[in-house]
Amino acid sequence: MTTPVLAHDDAGSGTPLVLLHGFPLDRALWAPQRRALAGAARVIIPDLRGFGESAALGDPPTTVDGHADDIAALLDALGLERVVIGGMSMGGYVALAFWRRHRARVAALLLADTRAGADSAEGKEKRRAMMETARTIGARGVADAMMPGLLGKTTRAKRPETEPELRAILERASVPGILAAIQAMMDRPDASAMLATIDVPTLIVVGEEDALTPVKESEAMHAAIAGSRLEIIPGAGHCANFERPAAFDHVVEEFLRGV
Ligand code: MLT
Repeated sequence: MTTPVLAHDDAGSGTPLVLLHGFPLDRALWAPQRRALAGAARVIIPDLRGFGESAALGDPPTTVDGHADDIAALLDALGLERVVIGGMSMGGYVALAFWRRHRARVAALLLADTRAGADSAEGKEKRRAMMETARTIGARGVADAMMPGLLGKTTRAKRPETEPELRAILERASVPGILAAIQAMMDRPDASAMLATIDVPTLIVVGEEDALTPVKESEAMHAAIAGSRLEIIPGAGHCANFERPAAFDHVVEEFLRGV
């Protein structure tokens, strides 16, 4: 069976930059970057299978490798051999899986508010509880559980309009997509040892107030990836690209200039 082509945005021209969204979000997470970075790159933003318009594409993968292969199939469909690949949180797990499976296609990496390690036993237990919430209450229940961790305290205090905008994305997620993504995250391998193999330019960005993948996770990736650059966005939490897009885009544009 051929892999279906993921629903995606394709804007701008120049260096192809693929941006992968986090959980349980869709490509709307990257709307600010679609607008701002299209002047600096060709910005390709898919809905991972199971989310957004890609929820209509059939059974979503239950592994991060499956998502990485979907991205490879999208690049094939677009006729792109090598790209800059970036991912936020779960999207970062997929970007690391993409490096493991398709590294010849990676020109550079952007790891945003993510981590390399696998889930702890306690983390897996929380995932099982989240699956139960998804099955019994649906996307709204998952949104209630996730929202407190997604935004930084500064965003909540100073940019209150961000909360409902982000919540709307979570609430429209499909339950099959949510369940498959939780399974994929729970089963993802520990990528920590693999970081030493990364030999392409790598930018690591994290919100200073990220409660889900705290700054120390990014510092550990920075220490393990030779020549990587770490940027900490003040006044932002787990969704730094969505909370403080101008600051986020600035560091990404600067990075792209050097790729
Ligand atoms: C995400 O934002 O993608 C999730 O918080 C990742 C996770 O739950 O590990």
